[in-house]
Amino acid sequence: MGPTWKDLAGSKVTLGDGTKLTADDDYLARSILDPKGQVVDGYAGIMPTYQLTDAQVADVVAYLRQLSVHTRADDLATTTVPATTTSPDRTSSTAPPTAG
Ligand code: HEM
Repeated sequence: MGPTWKDLAGSKVTLGDGTKLTADDDYLARSILDPKGQVVDGYAGIMPTYQLTDAQVADVVAYLRQLSVHTRADDLATTTVPATTTSPDRTSSTAPPTAG
């Protein structure tokens, strides 16, 4: 189907045209409302377009942030999740956290 949502928020994303960007809230919202506008490298632009209200998009973005180690610790302090419940990094991440 599509790329994993796990640790997507706040991560580095490469688009099909080579553009690299950070998956901030604006990017996530655009990816949900206009999936064909910025297609992720290696994927076909098959994601359907959803008709969502701003509030619904904000809720989905907040959910994606909760799934990500990159954003939940700093920004979702009220819904703290143990940082130890991790699974392997997204394959598109640069390197595994071996050092240190
Ligand atoms: C509520 C439902 C959905 C949400 C919130 C959602 C969210 C997202 C987000 C945030 C991305 C960007 C991922 C990234 O940057 O790594 C993405 C990409 C993608 N999604 Fe979805 N998605 C949904 C449903 C679907 C469905 C139903 C399909 C397939 C039938 C799909 C297929 C894809 C594909 C192929 C991509 C990568 C290509 C692209 O960037 O458009 N998605 N989705």
